[in-house]
Amino acid sequence: MTPDRDGREGRVQPDSLDAIEAEAWAYIEAGGRSFRAPFHSGTLGTIGEDGPNLRTVILRGADGPSRRIWCHTDIRSPKIVELRADDRIGWTFYDAPTRLQFRAWGRAVIHHGDDTARARWQATVLNSRRIYHAVAPPSSISPVATGGLPPELDDERWNAAYSERGEANFVALETVITRLEALYLHHAGHRRASFRYDGGGTRTAADWLIP
Ligand SMILES: Cc1cc2nc3c(=O)[nH]c(=O)nc-3n(C[C@H](O)[C@H](O)[C@H](O)COP(=O)(O)O)c2cc1C
Repeated sequence: MTPDRDGREGRVQPDSLDAIEAEAWAYIEAGGRSFRAPFHSGTLGTIGEDGPNLRTVILRGADGPSRRIWCHTDIRSPKIVELRADDRIGWTFYDAPTRLQFRAWGRAVIHHGDDTARARWQATVLNSRRIYHAVAPPSSISPVATGGLPPELDDERWNAAYSERGEANFVALETVITRLEALYLHHAGHRRASFRYDGGGTRTAADWLIP
């Protein structure tokens, strides 16, 4: 069953590994499509100098058949520095109303200035392009409280043509998922399932786990 546009319908009884896997990917895909969907944001984990480094990001796309998910970020951000040193990524998603948790692990592919980045940049809406115009790199220290954007973004010079300058900082961050876990909390008994993939989209393992 496929969740509706908002991702809140079609929940299967979690008694089949195949059904859980299909539903997990359908929810994740729905989260990547709609800001109203339950899994539209998630926690992205990288390995940083202080150890695990977690932050909330918007899920910008997912493709179940090829086991890939996408988010967007700034090429100058510390997470990119971390991923260049170690391309391993962890994701967690939780939706309180459905009581579903998905965890995923994989490898980063950083798209910057390539066809994938170009296509995804073209699909962004004007307002979401603003942050890519920050003058100083994201996460750099500022002597004053600031949003970091140049003043011209507030006046009539801000338009679609001007916004193209932000593309230089835009990254479409792809995660090639090699492991996915789904946890269903249910009063009649929790269920936890684990799936492994070979990096090319093929499933190599499917197992129940003790929740
Ligand atoms: C609801 C929400 C959504 C966010 N979405 C994104 C996003 O899509 N991409 C992004 O780079 N940062 C996003 N952020 C900001 C990150 O959580 C983080 O603060 C920022 O990316 C800097 O991370 P870094 O210093 O580890 O690179 C979001 C934050 C919140 C609270």
